[in-house]
Amino acid sequence: MFNKRVKIKKLLATEATGQEVIVMGWVRTFRNNQFIALNDGSTNNNIQVVIELGQLDDATLKRITTGASLKVTGTLIESLGKGQKVEVKAGTVEILGDCDPEKYPLQLKNRPSLEYLREIAHLRFRTNTFGAVFRVRHSLAHAVHKFFHEKGFVYLHTPIITASDAEGAGEMFRVTTLSMDNPPRNTDGSIDFKEDFFGKSTNLTVSGQLEGELGATALGEIYTFGPTFRAENSNTTRHLAEFWMIEPEMAFSDLEDNMNLAEEFIQYIIRFAMDNNREDLEFLAQRLVEEEKALPQDKRSEFGLIEKLEFVLNNGFERITYTEAIDILLNSPAYKKKKFQYEVKWGIDLQSEHERYLVEKHFKKPVIVTNYPKDIKAFYMRQNDDGKTVAAMDILAPGIGEIVGGSQREERLERLEQRMREMHIPVEEMNWFLDTRRFGSVPHAGFGLGFERIVLFVTGMTNIRDVIPFARTPKNCEF
Ligand code: 4AD
Ligand code: MG
Repeated sequence: MFNKRVKIKKLLATEATGQEVIVMGWVRTFRNNQFIALNDGSTNNNIQVVIELGQLDDATLKRITTGASLKVTGTLIESLGKGQKVEVKAGTVEILGDCDPEKYPLQLKNRPSLEYLREIAHLRFRTNTFGAVFRVRHSLAHAVHKFFHEKGFVYLHTPIITASDAEGAGEMFRVTTLSMDNPPRNTDGSIDFKEDFFGKSTNLTVSGQLEGELGATALGEIYTFGPTFRAENSNTTRHLAEFWMIEPEMAFSDLEDNMNLAEEFIQYIIRFAMDNNREDLEFLAQRLVEEEKALPQDKRSEFGLIEKLEFVLNNGFERITYTEAIDILLNSPAYKKKKFQYEVKWGIDLQSEHERYLVEKHFKKPVIVTNYPKDIKAFYMRQNDDGKTVAAMDILAPGIGEIVGGSQREERLERLEQRMREMHIPVEEMNWFLDTRRFGSVPHAGFGLGFERIVLFVTGMTNIRDVIPFARTPKNCEF
């Protein structure tokens, strides 16, 4: 029976020595034919299994190699060695699965690079770095649900396949069962989607927001947490073609309520990871220090990972308008010394170099930028009285840039329809969405947090491909 096994994390915290235990895991190292460091993924810390000389025959000893899986039955004893309180004195050692040391790519002797580990992403969970990253990712995901549940938000499962482009940016993956070689055509030569599976053109969702609004304007407060898909050809350390997004939507809320919720939410999930994953975060903090040793002094982080997270927990986010942000940039030494590659003037979409300047150089903390020009934002954002800006908010985080995008929504039917027409959004096809504004419209607001971006921030990893199990990026869909 397998479920008699004790997880190593629990075992390492046990004081009651003398008891019989069963542990199972994968060998990390085997020294002197005597000491096995065994890991089962519950923690980065290994349990030491001690074998007496002569206890096992040579053939069995040879099979205890890095990566092999074992079942060990033995006695938990106080450890004589340094580094651990307890260890297991082996009674029986059963090899569950061999691991050929000639072929196993994860020999610990030569530390593999993150780039190499991306190529063997199917095995990288077995390393300390990825063990820590994915346990932290799990905790953050759990904290998301805990936070919204405690606040009375309803978890709404919005569809993955849709027929609309929620962001109006045209970055969609098509979903079709039509033949690629010989699709049915209309008389004018265009493809006849009436013949397609859904009888119309469909795509993978870029955001659950529009359906989220339908839920919020009846249930009051909802959130979605699911995969979203963007066919944007951005091969950066911050973009994925498939990423997870959390999108809360609140009826009877304005931009300020939205900012308050986002700030409280981000602090809550970070605190949850700090309270529940201390060991893993300390490991990742150390990893970051090691990684940054290769960088010149001025490229290294000012704070350690833990200090950075504590700082975010203990300080409010800066709140500025887009117009103020532009003024800060125009008055910055960086601008005067022509250090920015992209132009700075009112109306531009802030580039990553601008965001980083504001967050890392000027404010040195997360910044919420509000009231962007309407022309660079989505159609659904509430139009401000100045006629130029919308009630948008983006949250920018040090080292990452944008982690949240959100807004108060345009709840006035005429204003919304007019904006949709201006932006060539098909009003007729969106009648279901507009019904929320026709029947008991209310002020409401919401935002989207890119889950991988917050995982990057919390783990101190620097490439988004390293915080999702299997990354989907342009020209890459392995595993
Ligand atoms: O700013 P975005 O496009 O906003 C929306 O989708 C809104 N519908 C959200 C809402 O108001 N309900 O995306 C929201 C966040 C971004 O701030 C970013 O963190 C993340 O999603 N994101 C990505 N993360 C990884 N890879 C990509 N390609 C991403 N695109 C956006
Ligand atoms: Mg955005």
